[in-house]
Amino acid sequence: MLVVEDSPLYSAEFFAVGDPYAYLGGLRENDPVSIHRRADGYEFHALTRYADVYAAYVDHARLSSSYGTMIDGSYRPQKDSASGRMLIVADQPEHTAIKRPVKAGGFNREMLARTGRTVRRNIRAALEQLSVGDRLDFSTVIAPELPKGVLEVLFGIGREDAAALLDATRTMIGYRDEAYVGASPLDSLVDAQLEVLGVIDDLIEQRLASGSAEDMIGFLARCVASGELTRDVAVLNGLNVAVGGNETTPHTASLTVDTISREPAQWRKVVDGEVSSDVATQEFLRWTTTNSYVQRLAVADVAIGGSVIPAGSFVTLWNMAANRDPAVFDRPDSFVIDRADNKQLAFGAGVHRCIGAPVATLEIQMFVEELAAWDKAFVVTGTPQRLHSNFMLGLTELPVEVVKAEDLGA
Ligand code: HEM
Repeated sequence: MLVVEDSPLYSAEFFAVGDPYAYLGGLRENDPVSIHRRADGYEFHALTRYADVYAAYVDHARLSSSYGTMIDGSYRPQKDSASGRMLIVADQPEHTAIKRPVKAGGFNREMLARTGRTVRRNIRAALEQLSVGDRLDFSTVIAPELPKGVLEVLFGIGREDAAALLDATRTMIGYRDEAYVGASPLDSLVDAQLEVLGVIDDLIEQRLASGSAEDMIGFLARCVASGELTRDVAVLNGLNVAVGGNETTPHTASLTVDTISREPAQWRKVVDGEVSSDVATQEFLRWTTTNSYVQRLAVADVAIGGSVIPAGSFVTLWNMAANRDPAVFDRPDSFVIDRADNKQLAFGAGVHRCIGAPVATLEIQMFVEELAAWDKAFVVTGTPQRLHSNFMLGLTELPVEVVKAEDLGA
């Protein structure tokens, strides 16, 4: 099995300025299961084929989430500090026990409909303020409108509080990127985490006092009152939803705008109604694959992709490589806006499959629909700056100019 010393997969810089898709594509073709070492002794196995990534996702009994789902999220043999108490780092049976109330309170049909209406309203209002000739950074001015709407509904907070919460979660995920933090990344991470936890705890306190259960936080507070959840579990999962919701869709939206600007002829098919917004949305999700990988720890030997990964090994499941696997996708390295039967894995699979997937899909679809109905368009005018992160694929800067819709690609 290929062993890579000082692998570029550890390097946030490589993901910002290098070509990680090409590197992972090479692994997928020649070494679908490989080992990546770092000078300090940390190592993980990397899975790059769609079939292997999928098989690993659904093997949650042998591939544990509770040791952290990010590289460096925790160190063996200690588990993550939120282990067993927060969805993303919980195994069975705790995972199921937590998922029920989070899903019932935040991800039911009514919440989805309310979220959709709020997100559409926010996007429309933001677009209506723009005039032909305006120049702006899409990633900071417009993209945050998507998760803001979700926070407003799920957390029952106003737009300003939603914006403040967004800033704090952004620092948590992009804490190695100097666009978000100053000189001391780890201090920023800890401060931001404490801030978010504090905000959510205050909201739970308010809902416990008022008894209102109209939003997800209120529902979680009710579960605390009934004894179904402890208060710290309720707070930690509020954090999980806030981070999951805030640090993904704005990047997807920015990369979507960048793609539209590069592929005006394909985009016109959506504007003209030849391709439906839901089909286009699935391809934007595949093409952008905002969450590049997740990590697991093998708690037993696992035979996968023709290799045996020994118990005790970290395993990374590369969504971005799976989503460009030629065994599953025709012309995988091309953006194909009307791609049929799109089995994109951007949200993962199995019991941990993104609980926010319907919300995220709706956000992007609303965004696509509002852009298609807009009488204007964004043209990228400068070099997009990619996020310094090997975990999130996104943009920290996307300079755009507003043009008349008919001038896109002219
Ligand atoms: C394009 C947008 C998004 C992408 C690409 C994405 C991706 C993912 C992936 C790959 C996982 C699986 C993690 C694992 O298996 O370890 C996940 C889990 C999760 N996501 Fe998302 N996500 C997105 C949007 C959202 C939104 C909008 C929310 C909330 C409003 C959210 C909340 C969560 C939560 C709470 C989990 C943990 C679920 C569990 O472990 O059971 N995500 N997401």
